[in-house]
Amino acid sequence: MSRFSSLLTLCLVATLVAAGPCDFYSSGGTPCVAAHSTTRALYSAYTGSLYQVVRGSDNATTNVTPLSAGGVANAAAQDSFCAGTTCLISIIYDQSGRGNHLTQAPPGGAAAGPNVNGYDYLAAADGAPVTLNGHKAYGVFVSPGTGYRNDATSGIATGDEPEGIYAVLDGTHYNGACCFDYGNAEVSAHDTGNGHMEALYFGLGTGYGTGSGSGPWILADMENGLYAGSTAGVNDADLPVTWRFVTGIVKGEPGNWAIKAGNAQSGALSTYYSGPRPDLAGYNPMSKEGAIILGIGGDNSDGAQGTFYEGVMTSGYPPDETECAVQADIVAAGYATTPLVSGPAVSVGSAVSLRATTACCTTRYLAHTGTEVNTQVTSTANTSAELLSASWNVVTGLGNSACVSFESRDTPGSYIRHSGFELYVNAPDGSTLFETDATWCPVAGINGAGNSIRSWSYPSHYFRHYNAIGYAASNGGPTVFDAPALFNNDTTWIVGAAWA
Ligand SMILES: *[C@@H]1O[C@H](CO)[C@@H](O)[C@H](O)[C@H]1NC(C)=O
Ligand SMILES: *[C@@H]1O[C@H](CO)[C@@H](O)[C@H](O)[C@H]1NC(C)=O
Ligand SMILES: *[C@@H]1O[C@H](CO)[C@@H](O)[C@H](O)[C@H]1NC(C)=O
Repeated sequence: MSRFSSLLTLCLVATLVAAGPCDFYSSGGTPCVAAHSTTRALYSAYTGSLYQVVRGSDNATTNVTPLSAGGVANAAAQDSFCAGTTCLISIIYDQSGRGNHLTQAPPGGAAAGPNVNGYDYLAAADGAPVTLNGHKAYGVFVSPGTGYRNDATSGIATGDEPEGIYAVLDGTHYNGACCFDYGNAEVSAHDTGNGHMEALYFGLGTGYGTGSGSGPWILADMENGLYAGSTAGVNDADLPVTWRFVTGIVKGEPGNWAIKAGNAQSGALSTYYSGPRPDLAGYNPMSKEGAIILGIGGDNSDGAQGTFYEGVMTSGYPPDETECAVQADIVAAGYATTPLVSGPAVSVGSAVSLRATTACCTTRYLAHTGTEVNTQVTSTANTSAELLSASWNVVTGLGNSACVSFESRDTPGSYIRHSGFELYVNAPDGSTLFETDATWCPVAGINGAGNSIRSWSYPSHYFRHYNAIGYAASNGGPTVFDAPALFNNDTTWIVGAAWA
């Protein structure tokens, strides 16, 4: 109790000084050597670029900076640059001055990325909107296949050198695939053996150790295993994450490492593990290589999902008092949710039709034939069965209640979902994957009319008609139905009353 109060006092004193997380790490003697955030500056004096976006209409880029020194990102600058088109996050800048920027991850040992030339996807620039003390900002929404990396860094720990890592993440966005990581990885993007990584992992992954209950957990990815402690099996002290915004910490020094976590909106961090390295060959001493990854495993395993708001890597093993002050600073940043939908209301409980807006096709409506979603010319001359096939119930999103799902009016209990980025009308199979693939966030129409219907799980993908078939398409993506020509019109729909 007295130790707790003295730490709390120490943190309160520290936060009276205007400072960012990396100022606390510096004054604690373990400076940031990488500092990444699309939401805010991580040093009180930082005014440089936070991230770069590239837009679909002409491949032009712009850098987003804080509104003021040490402040929140200027999301309005992104919104105006990206108006009438789509944008992706192409660079997440390193604020530490060491040039450890994160860019689109190349193919690795385990997996070639799904994008052109085996690269991973870039994240949609507006896939993870939040507010920080009321100011809008965007996080990095990592869908499976998305990843960022830097294999030629400066100042990041190598060998058994000590380091600290923290990240602020969305505690409700995860899966069990490998690996939603942020931290230290192989410079070759290949698995070079135990102890060649030291990254913060978040999700349901199992492999050597896990936390208690059914997860999700903050774990450490030290290569060839996710770790919650020093031995195989369950570390009951590594509690499942239950917060919308979570602060996670993984840090390591010779022979020793730790996991901490806490609610990024209030309170302090708890230590979930602090002790020896895993008791398998290769982890003591460590053989860290010093590359940086975000959203993927060290060998580019790219099946995981999660959302990253901010994070750093330090030189040196940060003292607990420093991390206490950093957590207080994160809480003071005031992370909060904001609506995922925009444009004309597409209300839960309504029954709707969706009319195409491309000049070719303005008499065509989103319909289905069996499980295939398509567009069909529809009018009052159609039979009532045909009209029902072009009519949809708007229900609460199966995978996220902030968005919606579309239930077929003629096949109750079946919903529009994407699979292989094609749209189908299917009944749920009980999986989280189905629920998230059937969840859609209606937003203001990309071409300026009506709505675009964005995938919750892949926010760079929208309902699109292409050769009269329904897809979840991305602007300029790797498949033929991602073609940039007519993308804005093909992904914009007039949502009106149901036909039947
Ligand atoms: C953007 O760049 C990509 C890759 O070089 C290219 O395929 C595409 O045509 C470009 N798009 C535009 C609108 O210039
Ligand atoms: C695309 O949409 C815009 C805005 O609604 C419209 O003015 C234009 O005619 C459309 N073009 C095509 C080819 O559909
Ligand atoms: C409406 O009728 C036309 C003409 O028969 C047909 O081509 C179209 O597919 C029908 N629409 C639907 C939704 O079935």
